[in-house]
Amino acid sequence: METVKVSASKEYTVNIGTGFLSSIGEKLREIKNVCRVVLVSDDTVFALYGEKVKESLTNCGYSVCEYVFPHGEESKSFENYEKILNFCAENSITRTDLLVALGGGVTGDLTGFVASTYLRGVDFVQIPTTVLAMVDSSVGGKTAINLKSGKNLCGAFYQPIGVFADCETLNTLPEETFNEGCAEIIKYGMICDKDFLEFLQKNSIRDNIECVIKRCVEIKRDVVNRDEFENGERKLLNFGHTIGHAIEKCSNLSISHGNAVAIGMAIATKGAYETGVSEEDFSDVLLPILKKNNLPTTCDFSAEELYKASLKDKKRSFDTISIIVPDKLGLCKIVKLPVEELQNFIEKGLN
Ligand code: NAD
Ligand code: GLY
Repeated sequence: METVKVSASKEYTVNIGTGFLSSIGEKLREIKNVCRVVLVSDDTVFALYGEKVKESLTNCGYSVCEYVFPHGEESKSFENYEKILNFCAENSITRTDLLVALGGGVTGDLTGFVASTYLRGVDFVQIPTTVLAMVDSSVGGKTAINLKSGKNLCGAFYQPIGVFADCETLNTLPEETFNEGCAEIIKYGMICDKDFLEFLQKNSIRDNIECVIKRCVEIKRDVVNRDEFENGERKLLNFGHTIGHAIEKCSNLSISHGNAVAIGMAIATKGAYETGVSEEDFSDVLLPILKKNNLPTTCDFSAEELYKASLKDKKRSFDTISIIVPDKLGLCKIVKLPVEELQNFIEKGLN
């Protein structure tokens, strides 16, 4: 088992291994006394792994009840959030109890946000089961739900007490969902690790999944340790996300987060060069890696549609918006763009 320690407002360990889900109860006992557990999962993941996790937790003395919701981004909603809060209250969950998120980024973001607000905060644990959740969303404490106006507009920074990534769960992941997680992996290489980017150019992510996940978690850990609340450096982790979130919104969530981020990175890279924000065009590095991992690099929405959908982005201040763009190979920078220049930036990036 590989471990990465995070030292943010809470200290916790990200455990990365293969085939330990049936002994998750023992692992949890190392960080949390027996208590009541609300196991939160979507229907697909619960059907695959719910009983295994429940049995292991129960065998170790935890008293488990489960909340299972329909899979998909639509479930990261205010309505579902409220239902889980009520479920916790109806099951008399107290401040010393625990929420466990078993699933992808949707489950983790939603459960984390419930944990951050129920009784003003209860412990929660992440058991990520998608590539995206293992390399990104389960680590660093960003929790959120979507509002009708846009993605992740309601949320909190709230760290889990532990993360348990069992790579064996990735064997049941549809290929497309596996690939979507690769977008966030490529993001890490682009923003701050040239060696890792070169590794991704030459090697298969799937064949090296455990060490790739560990490297991504280390990079994220370092950024989060230095800037947990995203006052500066952490914004780099949003490379591809401002335009990506706009793509998700324009598609009514039918384009997945990972695919949208892939397209967002491609547009930001080209747009930065074509508008003179970056001196070099790194598209010839980025696009082949995205394509090699079966990720899209463009979309049919117009610059105007994407611009309008970007305006509610969290990285917008009154008249500027922070955009992340490549500066050097394996190094991104944060650029404050006047809001009125964003449409042209996207236009240039789409061409
Ligand atoms: P997801 O949670 O919807 O999972 C994708 C699909 O895979 C779902 O249908 C799910 O049922 C299925 N699935 C999950 N694990 C499986 C397994 N092991 N086997 C078979 N099927 C499985 O989506 P995601 O791509 O994991 O996460 C996307 C979400 O993460 C978005 O809402 C995004 O905003 C959020 N996100 C958050 C952060 C953060 O820092 N908090 C970072 C990146 C993304
Ligand atoms: N996924 C971006 C972040 O955690 O900051």
